[in-house]
Amino acid sequence: MPAWKHHVFVCTNKRPPGHPKGSCADRGCAEVAAALGAALEQDEALWENVKLQTSNCLGPCRAGPTLVVYPEGTWYGGVTAADVPEIVREHFHGGRPVKRLVLEG
Ligand code: FES
Repeated sequence: MPAWKHHVFVCTNKRPPGHPKGSCADRGCAEVAAALGAALEQDEALWENVKLQTSNCLGPCRAGPTLVVYPEGTWYGGVTAADVPEIVREHFHGGRPVKRLVLEG
């Protein structure tokens, strides 16, 4: 059984137009998930250690696009595809969450 260092869930939920909560799909989650997937595929160390899953609604919809990284339980919000290299470098390689994107509980 794989022993991933990080398990990442990216919300890709889409709601109908006009829904009061909106959705991560309206805010660019597909690009975030694609950028993360591409980063993992291009980095052998990450491919072995980081598992990426798309997910239905994770809860903090208005802060989307959202993702959560386990086992540490770090929540990110307002993530764009442009933020992915920093998350990869700082969090996945460096073990330091990107504070400016962390959702506070
Ligand atoms: S729609 Fe993404 S967190 Fe709810």
